[in-house]
Amino acid sequence: ERKIQIAIDGPAAAGKSTTAKLVASRLSYIYIDTGAMYRSITYKALQNGINLEDGEALGELLAGTEITLKQGVNGQNVFLDGVDVTDSIRTDAVTNNVSNVARHSEVRRDMTIRQQQLAAKGGVVMDGRDIGTSVLPGAELKIFLLAGVEERAKRRHAENLKKGFSSDLENLKREIAERDRMDTERVESPLKKADDAIEIDTTFMTIEQVVEAIMANVIERI
Ligand code: C5P
Repeated sequence: ERKIQIAIDGPAAAGKSTTAKLVASRLSYIYIDTGAMYRSITYKALQNGINLEDGEALGELLAGTEITLKQGVNGQNVFLDGVDVTDSIRTDAVTNNVSNVARHSEVRRDMTIRQQQLAAKGGVVMDGRDIGTSVLPGAELKIFLLAGVEERAKRRHAENLKKGFSSDLENLKREIAERDRMDTERVESPLKKADDAIEIDTTFMTIEQVVEAIMANVIERI
């Protein structure tokens, strides 16, 4: 059985990380959340008062930054220069600024190299926006997950309430739509389905059904 690379891309809150984690766990593969990497550098830039319009400054900041993803008992933990930022990178401040940081070519080039190194040995499930098109164009399996914005906002809303966070559905809808717009319209490696990606519309599917659909495609390739 060979260890393949699985790329999972799609718009915000389409269920990528949830399904990617489950697929990785079934296969005993490594799960790599590339969004967490972009969130980490955004968090650091905000902490340091870096101008988010300044791609060069952001690139320099990133060059001196260590981002580590560790699989813990409760899922994946994210370390920024040795400090656990797993929760800090999920705040509204980070969420609402990350697309602005991620659009700069200086940031994307550095991140792409890091992500390619993490995936080099295979046996990985990597989720993001440009994995199938740019980071791992040779991935054996590419999945493009999507769902209507209304459904995605509802799912995120339910998730927030379950975690005990305050949440506003209309706000979420706006935030998700705006992030998708920025991620799709940027010049460098925008959010886009790779030509050879398999599209799965999860609007009317359960998580379990999505995982099964992906696994059926994995079986054909290992
Ligand atoms: O996946 P998540 O929603 O945490 O990603 C946060 C943001 O990071 C995205 O909205 C996008 O701006 C950026 N991102 C990216 N390329 C990736 C993964 C995430 O530009 N491969």
